[in-house]
Order: sequence, then C-alpha cells, then structure tokens
Amino acid sequence: MNPESQQTLADTNSNTIFMVWNFKENLEVKDIFNRLCKLVINLNNSAAIRFPVSRASCVMGIGYDAWLRLDLPVPLPKELLDFIPVAGEKHTAVSSKGDLHFHIRADSQSICYDMAAEISDLLNKVAVSVEEIKGFRYWDGRSILGFVDGTENPHGQEREFFGVVGDDDPDYKGGSYLFVQKYIHDLTAWKELSVQDQEKVIGRSKPNDIEMADEVKPANSHIALANVGDDLKIVRDNMPFGSMSKNEMGTYFIAYASKFSTVQKMLNNMFIGSPIGNYDRILDFSSPKTGSLFFVPTVDMMDEFSS
Ligand code: HEM
Repeated sequence: MNPESQQTLADTNSNTIFMVWNFKENLEVKDIFNRLCKLVINLNNSAAIRFPVSRASCVMGIGYDAWLRLDLPVPLPKELLDFIPVAGEKHTAVSSKGDLHFHIRADSQSICYDMAAEISDLLNKVAVSVEEIKGFRYWDGRSILGFVDGTENPHGQEREFFGVVGDDDPDYKGGSYLFVQKYIHDLTAWKELSVQDQEKVIGRSKPNDIEMADEVKPANSHIALANVGDDLKIVRDNMPFGSMSKNEMGTYFIAYASKFSTVQKMLNNMFIGSPIGNYDRILDFSSPKTGSLFFVPTVDMMDEFSS
C-alpha cells in the first residue's frame, strides 16, 4: 500500500494561516515534537468528520536543522538542505531559518484559528513563533497585484506527479518538498503602471486571465521565466495578506514539489535571469523577505514519530 500523504495537494481554500516556528536553544524538544505529530493528525481527522464541507487541512513541514536536531531518519530526503540564497545582479532570494512550517487551510477563519491555537499552545513551551501570516482569498483567486494566481497549476494526476516524491527516493515516497517566501509588494509603484504595462510584467491579461501569445509575451515577464518546461512543474497555493496601515501588502508564495531542484530552477531564472541579467520584472515590484525549505513527511511517518 502506498504511504498516505499529508494534504499537500488540497485545492486552494478561502482562508489560510501560515506559521513558522523555531526551536529554542538547549532544550529537549523531541517529546513535544512527538506529541505535535499526533496533534496534527488528530486535527485533520477531526476537521474531516466535524466540518466535511470546509475542506480544512493542516500540513506540517520540517526544516533541515530541525530534522537533524530531532534525530529523524537518515539518510535525509535527497534534496533537503538549508535554502541557499539566490543572488542576482539586482534582486536576491533571501534565506531565513525555519524549523517547522504549518500550512492551515479552511473555508472558515474559525477552523484555521482553532487549529493554529492548538499547535501554538503545545509548541510555545519549546519554540518561538517567527512568522504568522493570515492569507485570504481575494476575489476570483487574484494576488494583491490584481492578477489571477494559480491558473497554470498542474491538475488531476499531474498534481501528484509534480507535487509528491515518487520512486526515485523510495524512503520518502509520498512526502513533498515545501518552499515558502514572504513577498512584500511596492503597490505604489505597481499602481503607477498602466494595465497594459502590468500585463507585460505578468505575461497574461488582467481582467480575463488569458496568456499572451509567445510573439508578444516579454522575455522578462513572470510567466516566461517561471515556466521551465512542461516536464518541470510545482503545485502552488499563494495567498495575499497584509496590513494597509503599515503599507505592507504581500503574497505568501508556497509551493509543494516532488523535487526541490524544479523550484531552484525557477528561482534561478527569476532572480539571476535567463539569459543572465534578464531577470523577472515582477521582482521590481515584489521583494522576498523570507525564504525557507522544508520537507513534508507522510502521515505514516508522522504516526511513527509520534509513537
Ligand atoms: C504563474 C503570481 C512568485 C512560479 C503566476 C501567475 C501569477 C503569479 C499571477 C499567472 C497565473 C498562474 O498560472 O498562476 C506570483 C506572485 C509571486 C510569484 C504575485 C510573488 C510575488 C513565484 C515564484 C515562483 C513562481 C517565487 C517559483 C519559484 C510560477 C509558475 C507559474 C506562475 C511556475 C506558471 C507559469 C506558466 O507555466 O505559465 N505567478 N508568482 N511564482 N508562477 Fe508565480
């Protein structure tokens, strides 16, 4: 029987809480971690029974340092490392520390809140929360830049093929690489562009979300650089978030992948450019403030960790 994946491939939902936690120094953390694995399984099972229509889920990812500290199985998932910054001539994909990542999705904020609260109550004893982002669905699935985000995501069986580890790393089959970046947008500069110029940045039309023809799509548009081929895809579920009073509206970029190297290729194209110097124009209006890689174990592995 194939191992059961966490709900990495779940479809997008209306409300999200993203949390990143780092373990405190010099503390025994294993016992709480074991209980956490049990809690996350419990939260998912309970939500499925109590609120089936809400499609609620909580996915937990584990960073490289935490994997070692928790003495989890070796050899590690093949591509699990601390994320190395990607520095282009003008923009850099920074790296930030993350021991545990939680991706909580539901159609109701109340479910997200309760799941996050249970996790926080348990983790507070041994870890510090370094990121807590409440993402929301904006109109018909648009990023805060006003363009529909997610259209070219893989569908059907492709979703599993590109989003979940397969036979090339049998010990971790059913798991996923999870990569996140918190972007803040310069909306003032963005709004100064005409809709036509914004469309050239993304490579799609704004009102009806149609891809530009290859002859007119600029080589430095987001989709020209992020598309690295039909055989290299990832499963994204970005969410807008932010605070208007602080003038900090952003996009929480989140991707699940069967191989981290696919995400790496996209980041290289976007930040360094293809060819070098032809970087992604979206970065002139969007700055990544964090960047962390995690591995999402299967439910079967979490079950073992918890016993
Ligand atoms: C496509 C927004 C960052 C990978 C898109 C689209 C939008 C968008 C509006 C077009 C619709 C779609 O197919 O989803 C954003 C925003 C970002 C961001 C607002 C952050 C500020 C990234 C990053 C990556 C990425 C960091 C990869 C590491 C992709 C891919 C596509 C895409 C693979 C589909 C390209 C295609 O095949 O047409 N993004 N994106 N995006 N984005 Fe992003």
